[in-house]
Amino acid sequence: MFVPVLFVCAGVVAQASAACDRTMLQKATVAYVQAQAAGQPDLLPLAKNVSYLENDAPMDIKKGVLSQPVTIDFDRSLHDTTTCTAFTELSAATNKHPYVINTRLLFTGDTITAIESVVADDGDWVFNATSQLAWTKTEKWDPIPEAKWDSRATIKAAGDAYLDSWTNGSIKAPYGTPCARLEGGIYTGERNSSSNSCFMPVFPEPFTIRNRRYVIDESLGGLAIFNDFPFIDLKKPNGTASTNFFRVEGGLIRYIHEVTVCSTRGCGR
Ligand SMILES: *[C@@H]1O[C@H](CO)[C@@H](O)[C@H](O)[C@H]1NC(C)=O
Ligand SMILES: *[C@@H]1O[C@H](CO)[C@@H](O)[C@H](O)[C@H]1NC(C)=O
Ligand SMILES: *[C@@H]1O[C@H](CO)[C@@H](O)[C@H](O)[C@H]1NC(C)=O
Ligand SMILES: *[C@@H]1O[C@H](CO)[C@@H](O)[C@H](O)[C@H]1NC(C)=O
Ligand SMILES: *[C@@H]1O[C@H](CO)[C@@H](O)[C@H](O)[C@H]1NC(C)=O
Repeated sequence: MFVPVLFVCAGVVAQASAACDRTMLQKATVAYVQAQAAGQPDLLPLAKNVSYLENDAPMDIKKGVLSQPVTIDFDRSLHDTTTCTAFTELSAATNKHPYVINTRLLFTGDTITAIESVVADDGDWVFNATSQLAWTKTEKWDPIPEAKWDSRATIKAAGDAYLDSWTNGSIKAPYGTPCARLEGGIYTGERNSSSNSCFMPVFPEPFTIRNRRYVIDESLGGLAIFNDFPFIDLKKPNGTASTNFFRVEGGLIRYIHEVTVCSTRGCGR
């Protein structure tokens, strides 16, 4: 008699601590993938004054990539019930114009008030959509049983430590073993599947990665950090549009995907 009552209570508590309903966010990311496939933003529950950014620049949504039909080969999404945001990574390798698109959706209630996309294509940092698609499909991002969820703070700290370790050698990122990084189309996991292949040495000059915007999904150990990445793009010393998308398991980084946009081919390097 007692057990069902406890289950009901636990459900109510979990529901009460979330600012947004996971099902609502999940429907929205499904709709986002359909909208991008059709090139029809109107398929989304958009606020009248929704703001739309591509690669950090405000843009008319009707002129953006979301208004062009794109063949989507693969997609993976995070749903952040605490901040009412969602993230989707789209792999569009067989589209006539191949893309990898990382998008953050911001909600007020059930309505999307902002869309921010990092839209990568040929010439962006080590871009190769065919390779990106092949590797992302091999990865296991299964739901994590709730008893094993990392806290939001743990997941966020793992990603922040990774970014901070690029310029501060005393910061140790919590790499798992194995760990694999998909940077553009380059996969480090193939080097050695029984070791940490994500380690990044300190960059040759100091910089700070600013304007970090987070989407965290405890149920997948998922974290997306939209950020301005300085150094890499010679024409954008203050930072170019970039995302790092993580899977964290038991506090340790299992996967990292990086998508970075370049203002000139290969960021001028
Ligand atoms: C959009 O409209 C809503 C409701 O009228 C308002 O609260 C919000 O500040 C507006 N957002 C922008 C970016 O103008
Ligand atoms: C992209 O990756 C695919 C699959 O690994 C490879 O066959 C192709 O040569 C690569 N393209 C370029 C331009 O490097
Ligand atoms: C580097 O990281 C260490 C450890 O967190 C910290 O004590 C130190 O202040 C950092 N150095 C700089 C220059 O930020
Ligand atoms: C893979 O990494 C493990 C652990 O670091 C190491 O012992 C092994 O020699 C590596 N194998 C290859 C083929 O590099
Ligand atoms: C970088 O930021 C500094 C300080 O805000 C500014 O003075 C400078 O013009 C910026 N450079 C570029 C290339 O945007």
